[in-house]
Amino acid sequence: MLRKSLGIDIGTAQISICSSDEGLLLREPSVAAVDIDTDEVVEAGNRALRAVETHPDHLRLCWPVWDPIVKSADILSAMLRIFLYRAVGRTMLRPQAMVAIPCDLTEAQTNAVEDAVLAAGISRVHLLETPLCAALGVGFDFSSPVGQLLVHVGASRTEVAMIFIGEMVNHMTIPVGGTQFDSAIIEYMRRRHGLYVGKRTAEQIKIRIGNVAKSAEEKTLDVKGRCMKTREGRVVTISSKEMLGALMEPLTLILDAIVAVIEQTGDDMRADIAKTGVMLTGGGLLGGMDKFLDEVMGLRVRRAANAETAVVEGAVVALSRL
Ligand SMILES: Nc1ncnc2c1ncn2[C@@H]1O[C@H](COP(=O)(O)OP(=O)(O)OP(=O)(O)O)[C@@H](O)[C@H]1O
Ligand SMILES: [Mg+2]
Repeated sequence: MLRKSLGIDIGTAQISICSSDEGLLLREPSVAAVDIDTDEVVEAGNRALRAVETHPDHLRLCWPVWDPIVKSADILSAMLRIFLYRAVGRTMLRPQAMVAIPCDLTEAQTNAVEDAVLAAGISRVHLLETPLCAALGVGFDFSSPVGQLLVHVGASRTEVAMIFIGEMVNHMTIPVGGTQFDSAIIEYMRRRHGLYVGKRTAEQIKIRIGNVAKSAEEKTLDVKGRCMKTREGRVVTISSKEMLGALMEPLTLILDAIVAVIEQTGDDMRADIAKTGVMLTGGGLLGGMDKFLDEVMGLRVRRAANAETAVVEGAVVALSRL
């Protein structure tokens, strides 16, 4: 095959690129290092993070996928160009790509993403909503007339979709994801422990001990922060058992969205869900989130084995079926 076929998932936190013949080629932070004087993008992803650490006077970080996408379109396409080169090198023919897009993008944002991908060196761009990509990535059978529910938790949003014969019959997108879990932990540490912690620390707490299943084994973590009273550095030991309470607010919003989508669904398909259960995907999923949802909803909830890469893997499948 002369022309490469790629799946691309441009997330607010992570970008992934997958090819039809070689599988996952790249998964890196969607961040660019920009020259402060010239505004030129000089590096992307992990290398951008390192470059800015080494040259903080000359370079700044830019996360171009965070809204407004349209404003940083040039940075987005320059960043994508670097990632594409890293993933596939120089190719004789420019690749074609299926790009996953969130369901709540405006037309202007969708056009901006499409233009950025074209400008980055893709010859033909196809777009498909994230939940459908994820569904293909986890192997949902799009020919079977059985309703299936998919919940995708990213960094900036959660998308809930009721899927029937390859189409979304109901769906909802809410602005709650990994970033909001981090914010909830920052708030909890302030309220419960009188400790200021930054975003990076909050994310580490979430990743290391953020398990929300009641049955999870208890873990503890020493957390460094700034005491609210003394303004001095202080270390607090926290337990994984505190996480369910700390994260209850964003978890409840996700639960409400799932219930709302199920409620919009007709009786036949609701009966299907009772059998097929709920599939979870996305990098933002918390440890034990399947068990938590299982307990409160009484439905069989499963975390996909390829939760983080299902979207990009499904995008390639969608491209092959065009
Ligand atoms: N082990 C972990 N437990 C919980 N969250 C995690 C873990 N590892 C990474 N994350 C979170 O996953 C999120 C990134 O997930 P993902 O790659 O799906 O997001 P994205 O596609 O960039 O976002 P979006 O689709 O919302 O734009 C981040 O918020 C990160 O903190
Ligand atoms: Mg995503």
